[in-house]
Amino acid sequence: MKKISPVSRSGRFARGPGTDVTQFTESISFDWRLWRHDLLGSLAHAAMLRKIGVLSKAEAAAIARGLDQIGREIAAGKFRWKPELEDVHMNVEAALTRRVPAGAKLHTARSRNDQVALDMRLWLRDEIVLLLGEIAGLQRALVWLGEKNSAVLIPGYTHLQRAQPVSLAHHLLAYVEMLERDCERLRNCYSRVNVCPLGSGAIAGSTLPLDRVFVAKALGFVDANGKPRLTQNSMDAVSDRDFAVEFCAAGALLAVHLSRLAEDTILWASAEFNFIKIADAYTTGSSLMPQKKNPDIVELARGKTGRVFGNLVALLTLLKGLPMTYNRDLQEDKERLFDTADTVRATTRLMAAMLQNTKINRAACAAAAGDPALLATDLADYLVRKGMPFRQAHHAVGAVVALAEKSGKPLNRLTLAELQAVDKTFGRDAMGVFDLKRAMAKRNLTGAPGTKEVVKQLARWREQLSE
Ligand code: ARG
Repeated sequence: MKKISPVSRSGRFARGPGTDVTQFTESISFDWRLWRHDLLGSLAHAAMLRKIGVLSKAEAAAIARGLDQIGREIAAGKFRWKPELEDVHMNVEAALTRRVPAGAKLHTARSRNDQVALDMRLWLRDEIVLLLGEIAGLQRALVWLGEKNSAVLIPGYTHLQRAQPVSLAHHLLAYVEMLERDCERLRNCYSRVNVCPLGSGAIAGSTLPLDRVFVAKALGFVDANGKPRLTQNSMDAVSDRDFAVEFCAAGALLAVHLSRLAEDTILWASAEFNFIKIADAYTTGSSLMPQKKNPDIVELARGKTGRVFGNLVALLTLLKGLPMTYNRDLQEDKERLFDTADTVRATTRLMAAMLQNTKINRAACAAAAGDPALLATDLADYLVRKGMPFRQAHHAVGAVVALAEKSGKPLNRLTLAELQAVDKTFGRDAMGVFDLKRAMAKRNLTGAPGTKEVVKQLARWREQLSE
């Protein structure tokens, strides 16, 4: 068999491209990391070509052996990637054809257009599974920290002003909820990634009798009932990158959540809050100020949100107004997708590790949560229980707060006479409101930070996350 280069320029073109053109157009410098999935796709395609009689048994076996050998070389770092062969697909195919003459048949009824769509879907499927694992790890770290400190109360904030007391665990569990929605979005995204585009060819399928179902099943493109999932329009299949956008959008929301957790951690680690102490290994010093211990990990977690948002906008912009179908513009999708996947996965992992190495400063939390002003709303509820309309109760307690401020006393140190000077409804039992333990025991609506409810939520999450 005559040796033919798999380079797309062969035949039609008299000369190869200049080096600056090669440099500008190559993608091997970043898409090499699709190699495992490219090999998997090729193996399935070859098996299918064998099944429909395009490859003989010996040819199919030789191709499988060749691909396996290439895989081992790449894994061992011994494979030489060539930029002049543009991308991972052509590098692999050229290496195969050099070793196995039948390699020249592998690209039958396949284009890099459906091949790259396939590789990216295969790659992203694995990436989503890995990311889901890291998110569960972070959720476990949050639940663990909450359980270890289940009696710790802190002020809850709105407008970053002290609002009402909450348990630390309740605050941490808020992030567990956010992360769970991130997981749902990712699982949902997975279902649309998990559709097999192979067989779409360059744009219009093939005249050969491919067995698309065989390929889909071989590559695990099946639903929960084992039913194969195939793209239903070849033009859509080669130009669709919605799945990458969806992943980057889910990643952007995850990054938002991570940045909020990062920000809380940064605040809590400051001398002003002093709620937590992050282990030295997760902080850095200052080259100038000897006393400094900076929470760099979480600052970077917050900072990396920028590139994750950027990746989403870059992808959306890339796709906007693209004429049907495949255009080389689409090659620009990979670095954005890879960067989002790498960034959110590493950030999630590091944040979990950092939380596992964080101590709660219980004394500082107790001092802050002991601020009686946090229970001003409870005092209004006290009046409501006595039959006063809430608006009026709110007004009365407002006057009590003003009086406490004027007389320089904490809210819970006012005398009955002082309270009754504001409103006669206040009785002897009014000060009982400021018993923090009792106040927390009362907050037991579903989703509230009450003692019992938080224990219940912690137990629910521990069970759910241990599955
Ligand atoms: N490296 C290309 C990409 O990432 C592969 C597809 C190229 N197809 C083509 N017809 N030039 O999009």
